Amino acid sequence: MVIKGSCIVVTGAAQGIGKGLAQKFADLGAAHVVCADIDLEGAKATADQIGGVSLHLDAGSEDSVKALIETVEDTIAPIDLFCSNAGILTMGGFEVSNDDWQKIWDINVMSHVWAARHLVPRMMKRGGGYMLNTASAAGLLNQIGAAPYGVTKHAAVGFAEWLAITYGDQGLGVSVLCPQAVRSEMTRGFEDSVASLDGMLEPDLVADYCVKSIENNEFLVLPHPQVKDYMQAKASNYGRWITGMQKLRQRFGGR
Ligand SMILES: NC(=O)c1ccc[n+]([C@@H]2O[C@H](COP(=O)([O-])OP(=O)(O)OC[C@H]3O[C@@H](n4cnc5c(N)ncnc54)[C@H](O)[C@@H]3O)[C@@H](O)[C@H]2O)c1
Repeated sequence: MVIKGSCIVVTGAAQGIGKGLAQKFADLGAAHVVCADIDLEGAKATADQIGGVSLHLDAGSEDSVKALIETVEDTIAPIDLFCSNAGILTMGGFEVSNDDWQKIWDINVMSHVWAARHLVPRMMKRGGGYMLNTASAAGLLNQIGAAPYGVTKHAAVGFAEWLAITYGDQGLGVSVLCPQAVRSEMTRGFEDSVASLDGMLEPDLVADYCVKSIENNEFLVLPHPQVKDYMQAKASNYGRWITGMQKLRQRFGGR
């Protein structure tokens, strides 16, 4: 798809990767960039910088995701590209409370399902559209020290695959963003952690990778190219991959 002239929604646009995406789309001449976030002040600051619009969103609520889509389509323009990017990180394992598991499940997974549920039928009626879903390399390779994050990001990749399989031949573009560490509030203090082993990228560079993939209708967005090698190593010898991950866990102590 072509970014110039299009109507784009970015969730989690107050800061980090979402802010980088919103800025990039504005630079490339998008007609409308809607910056949505639970932090409305932050979303407004991003929107003010780029001449966009800010709207409140709680990505963990279906009503809120639906209202965002309806508001944009009714008052701004039909959405060409929806970037389901808002996400949270919850550290820990099975001891994490059910409430916290549910919260990260809703924000990291169900927000993608709800966006598709309320937007893809509209896109299909007008012949197409594009969904960019932010998952993570953790959705392909898991996350040492953070079971709720690794599990929900796997589910996010699974849902994006399903979307592409089901609608990708009917005019829907689908990309799933799977970076390792990116500099943001989420990774503050994680500069020397296992997730940063292959370097911490700037959101601006990650946004460049996303644009390239969207323009070329490529499914998997891998700003850290090493991730593909790790995926291949995992597929070719699962046992050896688990042992390697255990060694990393022992070395980095769960972070
Ligand atoms: N930073 C990384 O290293 C990294 C790596 C891989 C994937 N990701 C993913 O990228 C996405 C963006 O992360 P980031 O690094 O920019 O983090 P960030 O914490 O800097 O930004 C996340 C944004 O999402 C918003 N948000 C959180 N919960 C929300 C909700 N319920 N409704 C609406 N907005 C909400 C926050 O207010 C914030 O503006 C996330 O999905 C994250 O999992 C990040």
